[in-house]
Amino acid sequence: MTGLFKPTRRSVLLGAGAMALPRFGLAQSGFEVLEPKVGMAQVLPEPYPQTEIWGFNGISPGPQIRVKQGQRVQRRLVNSLAEPAAVHWHGIRNDNAMDGVPGLTQEAVAPGATFDYDFIAPDAGTYWYHTHYNTTEQMDRGLYGALIVQEADALDIDREEVLIIDDWLLRQTGEIDPEFQTPMNRSHAGRMGNFVTTNSLFQPVLPAKTNERMRLRLINASNARIFPLGLQGLAGWIVAYDGMPVATPERVGDFFLLAPAQRVDLIVDVTAKPGELAAIMWATEQEPQIQVGFDVTGAASRTARPAPRALPANDETGIIDLGSAVQARLVLAGGAMGTLQEAELDGEVKTFRQLAQANQFWALNGVVGMTDKPLVDVGLGETVRMKIENESSFPHAMHLHGQHFRAILPDGSFGPMRDTLYIGGLENADIAFVASNPGKWLYHCHMLSHQDAGMKTWMNVRA
Ligand code: C2O
Ligand code: CU
Repeated sequence: MTGLFKPTRRSVLLGAGAMALPRFGLAQSGFEVLEPKVGMAQVLPEPYPQTEIWGFNGISPGPQIRVKQGQRVQRRLVNSLAEPAAVHWHGIRNDNAMDGVPGLTQEAVAPGATFDYDFIAPDAGTYWYHTHYNTTEQMDRGLYGALIVQEADALDIDREEVLIIDDWLLRQTGEIDPEFQTPMNRSHAGRMGNFVTTNSLFQPVLPAKTNERMRLRLINASNARIFPLGLQGLAGWIVAYDGMPVATPERVGDFFLLAPAQRVDLIVDVTAKPGELAAIMWATEQEPQIQVGFDVTGAASRTARPAPRALPANDETGIIDLGSAVQARLVLAGGAMGTLQEAELDGEVKTFRQLAQANQFWALNGVVGMTDKPLVDVGLGETVRMKIENESSFPHAMHLHGQHFRAILPDGSFGPMRDTLYIGGLENADIAFVASNPGKWLYHCHMLSHQDAGMKTWMNVRA
C-alpha cells in the first residue's frame, strides 16, 4: 500500500494523465509519505565509513517541505522504525490535534502504523519538523527536516539557502554513540556532538558571486549545542527569528546566538571579492571555524543594494497589552552544581540524590516531568505573563508549542516574537503572549537531555 504514496510514484501517476488515476481513493488524498527509517549517510568525510542514521524517508535532513502561506500541509507518517514515532511541526500555530506530542495531543504511532497530519500553515517563515518520541535519541540520529512557508510575494533576492546545523556524536567507525541517556549529559549541558555539520555535511562550500543577495534560513537541529555565529565577507541583516519577521531588519554585529531549535532568517549581501573568504563562521570557544563557506567567483550583475526591507508581517503580530495579564512564575532548577534539594516526581517528594538515581535532574516549579495539571490554564484570548528564574548554572532553550511569545526586556520593551527562548545560566527572563490557540501545549527545554530528565510541562488554553 505505502508505495502508492511515495512522491516519485505519485508524480508518475499524475504525469501519465487521466487514464492512470488510481483505483484506490486514498491515493488521491494528496498525502505524501513521511517515513522514519534507517538509512546510510556519509556524515564523516571520506575515507571514514558511512553512518547509519534514522531519517525521514531514510535521509537526514528529511525531505524539505515547502508550501505557500495559508496552504495545507498533508503528510502521512508511515512508521518504519522498530519503535514508536510522532512528528511535531515546530513553530507552527497548529491545530492542537496535529501538534504531534505523544501522550498530550495524540497516541504515539506504533511501528508499522500510520498517522495523517493535515493542517494549514498560517504564518510565513522558517519552521521545521522533527520526531517527538524518544526525542533525544531519535532526533540525534537524524529525524528532522525543514518546513518552509513562503510569503505570498517573492522577495528581492537572488537566491536562498536552507541551512540546518547539527552536531553528531560519532565514533571513528562512523557509528553514532549509542549512550543517549548518560547521567552526565542529562545533568549537565546536554548531549554534545563531536562533529558539526550543516545539512549533514562538514563545512559545505556553496557557490556565490560578489554583490549577490541571498536569504539564508538557519535552523539549529542539534540536541543541546548553542551556536554563536558570525559573518565573514558577507553583510547581513536578521529579518526573522523563529519564523516571525522583525519589524526592522537588524544588522548582524559580531555574532548572534542560535540555541537549539531556534531559527534565524538572514538577508546577506556578498561583499567578498573572488578569492576572498565569505562564510558563516562558528565562534567556538577556541578559534572561529567555518560553518558554511561560499566560493566567490565573478560578480552579480547588480551592484550593492540598499539595506533590505522588513519581511511582510504575519497575521499574528503578538502585540501584547500587559494590563490584564494572568501572572505566572516559573523556576527552573536542578542539574549538576545546582541548588535543587528536592522535587516532586510522580507525586512523591524526592531528594536530589533520589532523583539522580532515577536519572532525573531538573524541576519546573519543584516538579519533575509532566503533570496532570497544566503550568498555566487560561481562556482563549487571555494574556499570560510569566517570569522565569533560572536557578541552575546551565543555559536552557525553553520552547512553547502552538504559539509565539515575546520577551519583556529590562527596559520594558518587547523582544522579537519567538517560540524558543535562550536563557543563560542563573539568568532570568520575563515573557508574555496572548493565548490565541486553544489546546494543550507542551512547554519544555529543547536541550533534549534536559527535557528527558524533567524539564517539561504544559499549558492549557481553553477554547
Ligand atoms: Cu521542537 Cu517540543 O519541540
Ligand atoms: Cu535545559
